[in-house]
Amino acid sequence: MTSDLAQHEGFMRRALALARRGWGRTTPNPMVGAVIVENGVVVAEGFHPEDGGPHAERVAFAALGRPPQPGATLYVTLEPCSTHGRTGACCDLIRESGLKRVVVGATDPFPDHAGRAYALLRQAGIEVITGVLEAECTQLNILFNHWTVKRTPLLAGKAAVTLDGKIATRAADSKWITGELARADVHRWRRLFPSIAVGAGTVAADNPRLTARNGEEEWCPWRFIFDGRLRLWNERNQPSVFTDFYRERTIVVTTQHGGLGYMRKLRDLGVKVWTIESPTQRVSLTDFRLRCSQENITGVFFEGGAQLISELVQLRELDYLFVYRSPLLFADDRAKSVFSGLRTEKLVNAVRLRDVLHETFGDDTLVRGHVEYPEKMYVDEAAFSLG
Ligand SMILES: NC(=O)c1ccc[n+]([C@@H]2O[C@H](COP(=O)([O-])OP(=O)(O)OC[C@H]3O[C@@H](n4cnc5c(N)ncnc54)[C@H](OP(=O)(O)O)[C@@H]3O)[C@@H](O)[C@H]2O)c1
Repeated sequence: MTSDLAQHEGFMRRALALARRGWGRTTPNPMVGAVIVENGVVVAEGFHPEDGGPHAERVAFAALGRPPQPGATLYVTLEPCSTHGRTGACCDLIRESGLKRVVVGATDPFPDHAGRAYALLRQAGIEVITGVLEAECTQLNILFNHWTVKRTPLLAGKAAVTLDGKIATRAADSKWITGELARADVHRWRRLFPSIAVGAGTVAADNPRLTARNGEEEWCPWRFIFDGRLRLWNERNQPSVFTDFYRERTIVVTTQHGGLGYMRKLRDLGVKVWTIESPTQRVSLTDFRLRCSQENITGVFFEGGAQLISELVQLRELDYLFVYRSPLLFADDRAKSVFSGLRTEKLVNAVRLRDVLHETFGDDTLVRGHVEYPEKMYVDEAAFSLG
């Protein structure tokens, strides 16, 4: 590695750390960080703090408070914007500042904008270096990248499994398969995604809170509960997502078969209900994705259980997967497996992850990546019946 590249990576790493300060606050915008460097020293920093807030480059220039010195460099984790949004184009700001060198991490994922800023800046006589820590800078914004290009939410699944891929014992014991550090990481992702989803089975078994808890701080995303026939309603013993402080953040996703009486009772509690028309008692996950797009929900973090996540795979609707694996072995055919419902006879028919990342949390390992479906995937019709 040349010393120039090592230096660029060092400053880009700092810009990445700044970008992460916007974690969970910038949606539908990306997290972006920027630093201005003069004579090898960081003289100003910025990050995009929240949706509607100033862009990272603008914050960094404001922090500098004077024109940059000749030879100054701007490091920014994402290609600067070249169109006038709510805050003006950062390309114009850079040109007007007199700065002569810009180093960028990831390229704008939107095809009409990708590379446009590079061309505009170069036309203005500014040196542009691209692709520094590109993979890290791109992967920081998995929600934004997906939303910008597809205008649908990133549907991500999370499972905590044993070495043999089980999420609960034969007696439904699942607390806790992974250790504290892995569970803290799950809370970090809950804070990023604007919504969490679980099936009625998980609520019935675990009565989860479904909030992001990080030390003292608690934050509640939209909490989707899939309950096609409203079986969770119970006069005497309501799950806490229907009664807690955040109940207005709970959205029960059901069908017209759920019963108007139960829907009214839920609404009386303050809980929201999405009724998605379906010929069966199961909501079509494709229709659910569409409804989320209409509501500008950029990502859904599906935390289980097995049935809901498997359904997403069978329908090719799962976009991203997080699997936390603990060093436990049940070796019990009757323990609950996380994925089922496919007939995979050949490796070419297997579902794969791409852009895979591995992280370690104590004794547990996280494998995560984008889900890539094989050309031919066979659903086991016997196992996959939509109620
Ligand atoms: N280790 C982990 O990471 C992890 C995570 C979560 C859960 N778990 C464990 O997994 C177990 C629960 O798994 P599970 O497979 O029974 O539960 P689940 O997937 O949470 O819930 C299944 C139920 O949700 C409803 N549902 C699913 N898809 C639906 C759709 N498209 N439309 C409408 N309703 C839908 C159905 O209710 P109806 O049958 O009433 O129609 C279905 O029976 C528990 O033991 C829990 O502790 C483990």
